[in-house]
Amino acid sequence: FNKQESLLSKERVLNIAHRGASGHAPEHTARSYQLAKEMEADYLEIDLHVTKDKHLVAIHDKDLNRVANKKGKVSDYTLAELKMMDVGTWFYTQHPEKEPVSSQLMTLEEIIEMFGQEVNYYIEWKQANGLEVLLLDVLRETGILQNDREGGVIIQSFNDETLKSIAKLEPSVPLIQLYSFKKSAELTKREIKEIKKYAIGIGVNYQSLHHDFVEKILANHLLVHAYTVNNEKEMKELIQMGVTGIFTDFPDYLTKLKKE
Ligand code: G3P
Ligand code: CA
Repeated sequence: FNKQESLLSKERVLNIAHRGASGHAPEHTARSYQLAKEMEADYLEIDLHVTKDKHLVAIHDKDLNRVANKKGKVSDYTLAELKMMDVGTWFYTQHPEKEPVSSQLMTLEEIIEMFGQEVNYYIEWKQANGLEVLLLDVLRETGILQNDREGGVIIQSFNDETLKSIAKLEPSVPLIQLYSFKKSAELTKREIKEIKKYAIGIGVNYQSLHHDFVEKILANHLLVHAYTVNNEKEMKELIQMGVTGIFTDFPDYLTKLKKE
């Protein structure tokens, strides 16, 4: 984890380990986060959902079908029930060459307890509005916001209302507005002005990005993070385009590229 230069500098290309090093190990597990740290990612990317008993667990889908082979939603189960589920078999079935390790879901507290200030956290709030306060409680209680590193915790969401609410409740946390553009990425001057009121940048599906758009966003002093990029050729093209961060399932590829 490179701590020499501000994480939020426009000059950097942040290496954001998407669901941990999820190309190498089951997503959102201790193993995938540990590998991301070893691969020198700048951030662990963490998607969050809320359990029946109001704990925050790192999981991308609201349903359990894909990673746990269970029926129903995260919100139908207590944390204790969720902790019993195996979330690795689906991955190791697809990757028989890898040595399986026991894989459980983790709460945000457990992740912060495991890594403390040694890593940076790029947290996506995937819940409906109104529950953001649960996230801020965890961040405050774990002390992770008392960090002298600007950008040590970033919060991202596709939902602008969620981000505006967090900006009011905890103005110190940098926010990223996510977009998924169907075609070429475009934002009007008015939209950019609105984003700048609460966010430090945007996260965009990389296929929609183009040079003029990235230039326009940077000229407006916003960061541009591209998701989710899993090969070196596209990483290189995006770096040339000027993006300031890349979400990847293979943080080792980007680390290697940045050292070349
Ligand atoms: O958070 C950026 C990127 O991860 C958004 O896509 O679906 O992987 O959360 P998703
Ligand atoms: Ca995400």
